[in-house]
Amino acid sequence: MTVGSVLVTGGAGYIGSFTALALLEADYEVVIVDNLYSSSEECINRIELISGKRPQYHRLDTTNEAALDKVFDAHPDIDSVIHFAALKAVGESGEIPLEYYRVNVHGTICLLRSMTRHNVTNIVFSSSATVYGDATRFGNMIPIPEHCSTGPTNPYGRTKSVSEMTITDHVEAQRNNAKKEGKSGDQWNAALLRYFNPAGSHPSGVMGEDPQGTSYNLLPLLAQVAVGMREKLLVFGDDYASKDGTAIRDYIHILDLAAGHLTALKYLLDHHPGVRAWNLGTGKGSTVYDMIKAFSHVGGRDLPYQVVGRRAGDVLNLTANSKRANEELSGR
Ligand code: NAD
Ligand code: WQD
Repeated sequence: MTVGSVLVTGGAGYIGSFTALALLEADYEVVIVDNLYSSSEECINRIELISGKRPQYHRLDTTNEAALDKVFDAHPDIDSVIHFAALKAVGESGEIPLEYYRVNVHGTICLLRSMTRHNVTNIVFSSSATVYGDATRFGNMIPIPEHCSTGPTNPYGRTKSVSEMTITDHVEAQRNNAKKEGKSGDQWNAALLRYFNPAGSHPSGVMGEDPQGTSYNLLPLLAQVAVGMREKLLVFGDDYASKDGTAIRDYIHILDLAAGHLTALKYLLDHHPGVRAWNLGTGKGSTVYDMIKAFSHVGGRDLPYQVVGRRAGDVLNLTANSKRANEELSGR
C-alpha cells in the first residue's frame, strides 16, 4: 500500500535520487521528472536495484509547463512535490546568469502554476545555505539560524532566494484567496530546505555523487584524488581564522539529507504551517584539512594536496544552527 504519491523534479540527480530512494523505501509512490541535463537515466536503474521498486520517470524540462501538465494529468494521485531540478554551479552562474534565472526561477514558476491547476498544494523546495551569504556581516551569526537575514553573493544564490520568495508569495496568496472564499486556507504549504554541504554515498556503493563534466565541490574532488583520477587537491586558502587556517563547512550525509525531505513533507501534511524554512546541516563545522584527514584515514594513505590562494566568493564559515530541524523534524 502506498502512503502518498510524490512528484520529484530533478530526481535523477544526486540529492533527488537519494530522496526518491528514501520515498520508495517508505512506501511512497514516486514520479520523477528530469531532463537529464546533469544526470543519467542509469540513476533510475540504481534506485530500482537498491529499493526493488522502479520509480515512474518522465524526461521533461521543468520550464515546459504543458509537459508538466501532462504528467499531473497522467498521475492524478500526486499530492505533493519535491522540487530539486535546477542548475547549481556557482561560478557558471556568474557567466550565464540568465540561464540560471530561466531554469531555476522560471522553472519554479512553471511548476507552481501547473501544481495550482491540478490542485497539488504541498511543495518541498531545494534551497541552499548559499542564501545566507556571509553570515558574519551583521555580527556573529555562526552557527547560522533560519532567521539570519539572507544576502546571497552570487547569481546562483540569488536564484534560490528569488525562488524562495516566489514560493512564499504564491503560498500566502493561495491561502488568503481560500480564506476569502470561506475555506480554512491551510491547504497550501511549502518547506524551504536550506542545505549546507551534502556529502557521501549509499553504503552499498551503488549510488553516490556522480557529477557529469567538471566538478568544483570539495567532496567529489577529494574522491577523485583518492581513486587516482586526480593528482592532488588544491586547497583554497590556509589563511582563514580557523583552527588550521582552512575554511569551515557543515557536511551533512546524503542519507540524512534525504531523510530530512520525508520528515519535512510529513510536517507540512500534519501541521499545515504555510511556509517554513529549515536548515539541513549537522551543526558541526569541519575544515578542509579535517576532510582531507578523514578521507586519508579511510583510504589508508595520505592524500596529496597543495595550498593555493583563496577562491573568490568563499567565506570563512558556513555552519548550520540545526536546532529548528532537530526540534521539529527529527524522529518524525
Ligand atoms: P544535480 O545536478 O545532481 O541534480 C539536479 C537535477 O536536476 C539533475 O538530474 C538535472 O538533470 C535536473 N535538471 C536540471 N535542470 C532541469 C530542468 N530544467 N528540467 C528538469 N530537470 C532539470 O544537483 P544536486 O546536487 O542533486 O542538487 C539538487 C538541488 O539541490 C538543486 O536545486 C541544487 O541547487 C540544490 N542544492 C544542492 C547543493 C549541493 O551542494 N549539491 C547544496 C544546496 C542546494
Ligand atoms: C567546500 C570547501 C572551498 C574545492 C558550494 C556552493 C553552495 C552549495 C554547496 C549548492 C570550501 C574548499 C573546495 C577545492 C578547496 N551548493 N575547496 N578545494 O563552496 O561551501 O558550497 O556547494 O547550493 O551553494 O557554493 O562547497 O564543496 O565547493 O567547497 O579547498 O578544490 O572546500 O574553499 O571551503 P561550498 P565546495
